[in-house]
Amino acid sequence: MAPRARALPATAQLLSTPVGRFGTKAARRAPAAAPAAAPATEPVATPIVKWVGGKTRLLSELLARMPARFERYYEPFAGGAALFFRMAPQRAVLGDDNADLVNLYRTVGLKVDDVIRRLAVHRRLHNEGHYYEMRARWNDANVSWTHVDRAAAFVYLNKTCFNGLWRVNRAGHFNVPMGRYEDPPICAVDSLRAAATVLQRAELRHGHYREAVADARAGDFLYFDPPYDPVTVTANFTGYTAGAFGSDDQRELAELARHLVARGCKVMLSNSDTPFVRSLYKGFRVDRVRCGRAINSNAAKRGDVDEVIIMGER
Ligand SMILES: C[S@@+](CC[C@H](N)C(=O)[O-])C[C@H]1O[C@@H](n2cnc3c(N)ncnc32)[C@H](O)[C@@H]1O
Repeated sequence: MAPRARALPATAQLLSTPVGRFGTKAARRAPAAAPAAAPATEPVATPIVKWVGGKTRLLSELLARMPARFERYYEPFAGGAALFFRMAPQRAVLGDDNADLVNLYRTVGLKVDDVIRRLAVHRRLHNEGHYYEMRARWNDANVSWTHVDRAAAFVYLNKTCFNGLWRVNRAGHFNVPMGRYEDPPICAVDSLRAAATVLQRAELRHGHYREAVADARAGDFLYFDPPYDPVTVTANFTGYTAGAFGSDDQRELAELARHLVARGCKVMLSNSDTPFVRSLYKGFRVDRVRCGRAINSNAAKRGDVDEVIIMGER
């Protein structure tokens, strides 16, 4: 992929006002101006796995609200890590409690060519038989994996499964059927290489978000994108790992965000626009945004869902 200038979304370009306080209109500035962002000549990286709750569609709204300057960037609910890849920060901590996802990012950062070679094999072998064989191996506790094989299997299953929906059941088993795609992007070489460049600059942490941000200091910028507070009782998709993220977790996260702000960190969070979420973030700036989220398995019911972007700074 030829290096190209880091083009910013229109909203971010328009809001390039000189430095002001984060959380006020004057402070809305594109991250390209921040010293923490990538050189403009670097290929633009994008997520390497499809992820429920992925933030690609909300990127321009997030970028427009980024602080102008910060030290380290933290994203402790990484998932597809759309904002991390788009910003390509110079110093970052990326975390998730999904061990396979963290292994994937670590391995792509360290051994991208090996992952690409394995994916080329999956691409050649791809058919229904290969998919279900890989899915069975993936869930078989008796199979031992190298980091590279596990990372490549993750990308392969993610790119070929139904709807790109990475979902595990309570036992932690990946149980999604094969999707029907003409030519799924199993081995996207340029995209993997661009991601590897950004991942090499990040510290990867597997585990609870609380531990991932424990060493954040004044001047650091943290973006939290937790599993969302459910809009309806049946809408709570939290199947990224075998655990769940309930109201107590939402409360604990809001409390942590307050501590971080008091410590001098700059904090941004996204969540669904519910009275509960608003009640948790009193005193923060809360902006409602609309985003076409597609988490409903019934296509007819997939529509725009109101979300909030929450910001805090001392
Ligand atoms: C909404 S997704 C993040 C989406 C991401 N921003 C993107 O662009 O794709 C939430 C992520 O949080 C992770 N997660 C859930 N509970 C967690 C916890 N307690 N600590 C750390 N990560 C957690 C899930 O594995 C999932 O990847």
